[in-house]
Amino acid sequence: MSTLQLHDIEACVFDAYGTLFDFNTAAAGARDELGDDWQRLSDLWRLKQLQYTWLRGLAQHHADFRQVTGDALDFALATLKIERPGLRDRLMDLYLRLGTYPEVPAMLRELKGRGMKLAILSNGTPPMLAAVVGNSGLGGVFDAVLSVEEVGVFKPHPSVYRLAAERLKIAPARICFLSSNGWDAFSAKAFGFQVIWCNRFGQAAERIPATPDGEITDLSALPTIVSQ
Ligand code: LAC
Repeated sequence: MSTLQLHDIEACVFDAYGTLFDFNTAAAGARDELGDDWQRLSDLWRLKQLQYTWLRGLAQHHADFRQVTGDALDFALATLKIERPGLRDRLMDLYLRLGTYPEVPAMLRELKGRGMKLAILSNGTPPMLAAVVGNSGLGGVFDAVLSVEEVGVFKPHPSVYRLAAERLKIAPARICFLSSNGWDAFSAKAFGFQVIWCNRFGQAAERIPATPDGEITDLSALPTIVSQ
């Protein structure tokens, strides 16, 4: 049993990309065309995708995550000078069928079996999230799959985190939020959730408000950490 314990939790709310679903599996799925460039493309694609969410937020030029993901891919392909007919569409399609991190299905089912409410809160558009969740076979376990499109601004705007509390009708302090993105975990804590940072990528702590309640390296221990 983990020494990290969070009590009085009614719902676990998960970030999608990088937390439940492995965004690296998109570029890895086109390794036959990308060769040794696949990891560099994947890293740059993700980095630019997130930067564009923040830039569009600051500039108040919102476009949905499908567009931002495609724009970031175009930037990454141009930077690496990769030009192959059909590759962009193939990668965008692979993004709808991302692999699930291996511990995720059993962890979700165990929490669900205990009556824990489960939700996704993501930058993804409703169709993107419906596709990735549907293709993972996990559709039935979630009580809600929430998209920032309902509030029209990306994470970490507080209105995104508020959406989860309002839609689940659960006070933020009784929600455990999980993200592998440090900036998302820290910002969700600043909003008022209880937060566990699933630091899959061994990243350094962010220097922004506020520090999550705990840190784990994958989600397998979550059922031993949270209790109702
Ligand atoms: C999401 C991104 C931030 O799913 O990973 O919201």
